[in-house]
Amino acid sequence: MSEDKTYQVTMEEHEFIYPRYEFVAQANVSDPDIFERMSLDKFPYYYKEFADMLEWDEYWHTMLDTSDAPCWKWFVGGRLNASYNCVDRHLKENKNKTAIHYVPEPEGEAIEHITYQNLYMRVNEVAAVLRDEMGLKKGDRVTLHLPMTPELPITMLACARLGIIHSQVFGGFSGKAAGERAWDSESEILITMDAYYRSGKLLDHFEKAEEACKRSEEEGQKIKTVLVWQRYKGKHSSPTPLKEGRDLVMNDLIEKHKRVKVDPVSMPAEDILFLMYTSGTTGRPKGIQHSTGGYLAYVTAMTYIIQDVQPTDVYWCMADIGWITGHSFIVYGPLSLGASTVVYEGTPTYPDPGRCWRIAEELDVNIYHTSPTAIRMLRKAGYDEPDNYNHKFKLMCTVGEPIEPEVWKWYYEKVGKNQAAIVDTYWQTENGGFLCSSVPGIEPMKPGSAGKTVPGLHAVVYDDTGREMEPGEGKAGNICMRNPWPGSMQTIWKDRDRYVRTYYERYCKDPKSKDWRDWPYMTGDAAVLAADGYFRILGRIDDIINVAGHRLGTKEVESAALVVEEVAEAAVVAAKDEIKGAVPDLYVSLKPGFEPSTELEKKINATIRDVVGPIATPKGVWIVPDMPKTRSGKIMRRVLACVSNNTDTGDVTTLANPEVVELIEEMVKKGK
Ligand code: WT7
Repeated sequence: MSEDKTYQVTMEEHEFIYPRYEFVAQANVSDPDIFERMSLDKFPYYYKEFADMLEWDEYWHTMLDTSDAPCWKWFVGGRLNASYNCVDRHLKENKNKTAIHYVPEPEGEAIEHITYQNLYMRVNEVAAVLRDEMGLKKGDRVTLHLPMTPELPITMLACARLGIIHSQVFGGFSGKAAGERAWDSESEILITMDAYYRSGKLLDHFEKAEEACKRSEEEGQKIKTVLVWQRYKGKHSSPTPLKEGRDLVMNDLIEKHKRVKVDPVSMPAEDILFLMYTSGTTGRPKGIQHSTGGYLAYVTAMTYIIQDVQPTDVYWCMADIGWITGHSFIVYGPLSLGASTVVYEGTPTYPDPGRCWRIAEELDVNIYHTSPTAIRMLRKAGYDEPDNYNHKFKLMCTVGEPIEPEVWKWYYEKVGKNQAAIVDTYWQTENGGFLCSSVPGIEPMKPGSAGKTVPGLHAVVYDDTGREMEPGEGKAGNICMRNPWPGSMQTIWKDRDRYVRTYYERYCKDPKSKDWRDWPYMTGDAAVLAADGYFRILGRIDDIINVAGHRLGTKEVESAALVVEEVAEAAVVAAKDEIKGAVPDLYVSLKPGFEPSTELEKKINATIRDVVGPIATPKGVWIVPDMPKTRSGKIMRRVLACVSNNTDTGDVTTLANPEVVELIEEMVKKGK
């Protein structure tokens, strides 16, 4: 196991806090019998409960097919459509209900309440454009590079209606990042938007399209058409002009397809719903491939069991739809249940730290879902601010990183006003939905702990020798899942080998086996299993930095630094950060003949922002005379991480060049 955890949470186990009676009395799930029903000896049959939350065109015949282990197939023989399940099926009883509350960032712009009927019309019109104007069909891939406006979920649902595989790239990512993903997924169409608001500024988003097309084409994948949504209908809000012959305005195309209806395509449960790219340990991001039936059943069930979403609830998950959390818990989960979901365009603290609580009060949000980074930020910017508002949450969720018990307490006392139950949900892009969380109506909360595995999942913690660790050993091990589950990824797009290697190779008991018991899923996280069965997640065991709850591969940042011609070697480590948990800190050495300078530091910094996106902005760019190396020439990132975090580097005498460590330490201490 790597020693440089992104940051170490306190190992002290906190006391249980029990949810209030009012919460338990109304909870979707309050009977502990659920764990009995979903015990491992009954696997996989209990997942029928999940499948039955959906409407199937044709019911499945095989719950789990393991013949291509570890590529699990769920609900085989079944057919359904995700867009139908998230939209059409609610029309009969709830067409007038708000499906999406859209909150633009400028407070002067009206909140839009999109009913299920309106969502239905809009999804159909976009589907008509994709099918009839673009000639897209089932199985085609489309790259979306959209910000947080209703056009994003509408476009996703329009794709799903036709069986088109959507691959949404986080709007904050660079054009290059979008282009690389378009290339990997072989998309001929890119869907983007002209502009959007962030921290009071109308950002030029469309400018990234040019770079995306260029990058994709360089790799051999030509983007034929760019569809551009308008932030303000009837107006191009970007200073970057449209390119004739390539770019088309989505809003204009829709005018030609008003009120057109597109029949949802009945999809085999195992067909792909979407791709979501995430960082891996090597430079190239992985296209995580999610299924239609298994994924949708899983997120629907998790939204019901863990988020406790009910028909009258207003649910606000403050993630970005460009991440898996937004796919599962802004779009597919809540809409599948027919709930009202909130889409907020902007920054949580804009124009002031009361913004979130005003939105919550105005829309009467009663379920709130965000990340430790956002909570830390809100706590820092407006500690007492929630006191000024009359919002009332029954449930709050934290996701994406370990949360410090102090921050948890502020969330509980201030934001939740000592009334809301909290779930700390632990999972990954690969998982579709939760791995660990307490079931809020049954199990108590423990600040800093993600709880037990969710109903249906069964975890095991292995030590480095592959031994199963006992609850209460007090030491960290590798947390794995004993059994597959319907929301789990199918594979990595076009790279089954990498899928098997990354998630299964290490603990596989027999690579030829078709028995799921031989294939525990390795999360890649270190965790401590307490005596009471609760898991405390410590962080990644691989070369991944968790920045504000988002994964960043160190290799990705290092590769970006190496784009700069002066740079010979680059090493990225995680530096602790008060708000974001961790941020990348960058060390580079130069090719012979080049001199360090502030200009060069700036150039390297700018290149990284450009290639990866602002999320990868390094805390520092340290131009060092040489990297600390082992005798075999490996860069010692562990030593650099100690320097970045001002901790003891330990014994470095076995290095090939121990003298350089002191030099680097001095440099970083001086900040120069
Ligand atoms: C990594 C996955 C899908 C959630 C959003 C991030 C870390 C996630 C928790 C939590 C401690 C957590 C893990 C995991 N993580 N949730 N509740 N407590 N750590 O998705 O980008 O795929 O990142 O985030 O290290 O492996 P992701």
